[in-house]
Amino acid sequence: MPREIITVQAGQCGNSIGSQFWQQLCQEHGISQDGNLEEFATEGGDRKDVFFYQSDDTRYIPRAILIDLEPRVINSIQTGPYKNIYNPENFFVGKNGVGAANNWGDGYQTGELVHEDIMEMIDREADGSDSLEGFMLLHSIAGGTGSGLGSFLLERLNDRFPKKIIQTYSVFPDTTNSGDVVVHPYNSLLSMRRLTQNADSVVVLDNGALSRIAADRLHVQEPSFQQTNQLVSTVMSASTTTLRYPGYMHNDLVSIIASLIPTPRCHFLMTAYTPFTGDNVEQAKTVRKTTVLDVMRRLLQPKNRMVSTIPGKKSCYISILNVIQGDVDPTDVHKSLLRIRERRLATFIPWGPASIQVALTKKSPYIPMNHRVSGLMLANHTSIATLFKRIVRQYDGMRKRNAFMEGYKKTAPFADNLNEFDEAREVVTDLIAEYEAAEDADYLNPDGPEKAAAGEAGDKRVA
Ligand code: GTP
Repeated sequence: MPREIITVQAGQCGNSIGSQFWQQLCQEHGISQDGNLEEFATEGGDRKDVFFYQSDDTRYIPRAILIDLEPRVINSIQTGPYKNIYNPENFFVGKNGVGAANNWGDGYQTGELVHEDIMEMIDREADGSDSLEGFMLLHSIAGGTGSGLGSFLLERLNDRFPKKIIQTYSVFPDTTNSGDVVVHPYNSLLSMRRLTQNADSVVVLDNGALSRIAADRLHVQEPSFQQTNQLVSTVMSASTTTLRYPGYMHNDLVSIIASLIPTPRCHFLMTAYTPFTGDNVEQAKTVRKTTVLDVMRRLLQPKNRMVSTIPGKKSCYISILNVIQGDVDPTDVHKSLLRIRERRLATFIPWGPASIQVALTKKSPYIPMNHRVSGLMLANHTSIATLFKRIVRQYDGMRKRNAFMEGYKKTAPFADNLNEFDEAREVVTDLIAEYEAAEDADYLNPDGPEKAAAGEAGDKRVA
């Protein structure tokens, strides 16, 4: 029985990364630009129906809803090489076509006006699936549409489908780049509240880290969005391989989330991928010898993480799932895990299992591989709180001066007061405190006798 996932992509960033993701999935599953199965695509074993359904004429159609308040990116998708794969009824473009002006309040209030049309599309897709598992929202949190309308939709999806999983791929701004959206701290903080309260799992990707990785690994000094989005779509495709090429574990979203998120609020995940080579990223066509140990070791290196965090003394992993693809002997996995443990390469929370989980998955037979082994790490790491702290700090700096507040006051969520800001700040600071508390041995039982016992488990800290 398929466990279908509906993808909702909102705003410029959401639709740009979404269109690369669909292109990659089509190539991996041997689906042509028109949605037909290629003649060479005769190998079975993949599950196309998680992300696609078949139309009456047997073409594969993404379970995707594409939403934007300005038409530019959606127009380019509708005229691009993959224009025919999408269901034409699943595009939503705002009527006045002006976007949300990088204002969360604008995007959110537009949500109030247009949500019936959008929810109708989502209901139609949901009714068309046999056993819907959940939703994936693709968006950035720094602008107006992906962040504001995205936040509104997260609330609605939660209300309408309380039992379904909501996962997001959320692009955070490059906080060091003064050229990015100037009010990003406002928009990010307001979105963070919904990501905390209305999503089950958030895969955090930040543009600062993506640019750094593109510069270091791919030798591109000023990467275009198209290049960073190729990194993102590689990560998205790798993190969904266990769903699309199912083995005996981690073959639905719920099992991935259960293995990574032991306490519901700490649900912000970081990723690393190695090696970035091959077909997708032209500049990185270097071939080298890859082994399971080499891949697993690289995945643990902070410089390969797609989130810029500053690990503190007590920072540690809450959980790790490595998705390893390629020509792999399971005994190599075992040996590599032992080696990583001996070398104490990963520090874990003192109150839970201290082990790296590994999923070995098949790779698409239709895309030639330049390397023997590749890997994705999905990790829950307490240092992610430093990214949230940076957002709060930048927010406080702007809020103190009431900078750019007029634009927000003109929108419905702020028409009467600015409580929305204060509430969002409180949710985010609570979240930061939760991650900090998770670094302590008595996290699960602050007053109980386990305190001492958990303290003794100090040597569990190493994988
Ligand atoms: P409005 O433009 O206000 O209607 O909202 P929007 O959601 O369409 O805005 P957008 O998605 O452009 O969000 C702005 C943030 O997203 C900034 O931090 C940009 O740097 C980032 N961004 C925009 N497009 C892309 C993209 O294609 N890839 C990546 N990685 N980031 C993007």
